[in-house]
Amino acid sequence: MTPTKEKPPVDEREKKDVLDHIEDFIENRIEKNIKKGIEDLEKFVKEELLKRGHKRGDEPGPLSYIEAFLDDPKVATVMPSSKFVIERVTKMIDWSATKTIVEFGPAEGVITQRLLELLPKDGRLVGIELNDKFVAALKKIKDPRLHVVHGSVLDIEEHLRPLDIGKADVIISGIPFSFLKPVQRHQLLHKIDDRLRPGGRFIGYQVTTHLVPLMKYHFEDVDVQFEIRNIPPHFVFTGFKAK
Ligand SMILES: C[S@@+](CC[C@H](N)C(=O)[O-])C[C@H]1O[C@@H](n2cnc3c(N)ncnc32)[C@H](O)[C@@H]1O
Repeated sequence: MTPTKEKPPVDEREKKDVLDHIEDFIENRIEKNIKKGIEDLEKFVKEELLKRGHKRGDEPGPLSYIEAFLDDPKVATVMPSSKFVIERVTKMIDWSATKTIVEFGPAEGVITQRLLELLPKDGRLVGIELNDKFVAALKKIKDPRLHVVHGSVLDIEEHLRPLDIGKADVIISGIPFSFLKPVQRHQLLHKIDDRLRPGGRFIGYQVTTHLVPLMKYHFEDVDVQFEIRNIPPHFVFTGFKAK
């Protein structure tokens, strides 16, 4: 009988190099096409709605997300996150050690609602949202564990202080970091790191990977996933803070 050959152990450095190459490949070859596709889709939706004389109402309705997108470029995408993105985000949370979550840019609250389903009874969820129409929609969610803050995530410390929240277990972000200046991105990641407890997690979901190198700078470890079943497809990044 021929002896079975044992596979040599995979060198961790080699594994990292492969991941870095995949990331470079996505960034250089695929990302540009995705971005172009999104821009075309956004342009098309805008033109079609305006052509049809679509009126923007004050009350959130079935088209409220698109209305908000037309009114406010910081909304950044035309559709709420799909159930596949929501699942990827919630799976990155260690629910056995999570009671306090801060959500950046919850919009209409599709992720918020799922977080509330999974959050322990004595947990707390703070949603920080800039867009006033989305804030109005979020305030309709009646759950004593949810605190909706109308403001910018750039002022996270000021928003958390009156709620008496020292450190969060998890911070989730759907805000478009690309709208921030490079120095603001660094500052915000620094604030996020500062507001997380040791061993806490920062989970971001967005269209591009430009945040990955910055996250690698701020966090001990970074996990990157790609979800194609979303309009537009999204990356989900998790930064693990050292314990
Ligand atoms: C891509 S959408 C979020 C998607 C939503 N959470 C979902 O999963 O469907 C980005 C959201 O971030 C909000 N936003 C953008 N910049 C912000 C900021 N500086 N502070 C708070 N919210 C912000 C926008 O108003 C918008 O609701």
